[in-house]
Amino acid sequence: MTVPTQKGYGPILAERRIGVLISGRGSNLQSIIDAIACGRLAATIAVVVSSRADAAGLQRARDAGIEALCLSPRDYPDREAYDRAIAEALQTRRVSLVCLAGFMRLVGPPLLEAFPHRILNIHPSLLPAFPGLEAQRQALDYGVQVTGATVHLVTAQLDGGPIVLQAAVPVSPRDTVETLSARVLVEEHRLYPEAIRIVLEGLWSIEGRRLVRAIPS
Ligand code: GRF
Repeated sequence: MTVPTQKGYGPILAERRIGVLISGRGSNLQSIIDAIACGRLAATIAVVVSSRADAAGLQRARDAGIEALCLSPRDYPDREAYDRAIAEALQTRRVSLVCLAGFMRLVGPPLLEAFPHRILNIHPSLLPAFPGLEAQRQALDYGVQVTGATVHLVTAQLDGGPIVLQAAVPVSPRDTVETLSARVLVEEHRLYPEAIRIVLEGLWSIEGRRLVRAIPS
């Protein structure tokens, strides 16, 4: 059996410094903070960056003693300049893994190139079903009986990168967007810290579309 190579990411990720990008509520950020606090995840959140000044997640970060910044896209001439500013803020703080947690912006080339295979996103559906906005509403409208949550590596394709972990959530005929979102969120909060742990461990490689984990001996 061929053991997948770490492709050189191991030493960089060994520092285990995470940067979390948010735009709102920040409940996934909170799940990462909690997993670190209780020892389920060995990592440090070096910085939280929000695209919105009114994001509740900024306060969650400050309450946990984490540096929290707002970088608003409105303060930059274009998307590229904004992405460069985010990349710089993360690199200055020696971030090795970037976690998008409800970050309502497309990630462009400057950020992707600064963190190759080192940006994660969480999405509230079983990708590739229902990418983009309002995934839970899309699932209800389509009439699926099972949806879920996905953590994946970020690439230039929206919600399209290699999958790290997924969890399924049954849809009930009585579900509304609110009830379904709440049950999906429970799975998101369990999944994201676990996916981060896997990626930081570094025992994986990318083969085509797949993230392949080394089987522990
Ligand atoms: C989550 O449903 C996440 O999957 C999606 O945006 C939402 C963010 O929620 N990308 P929160 O800000 O983490 O509470």
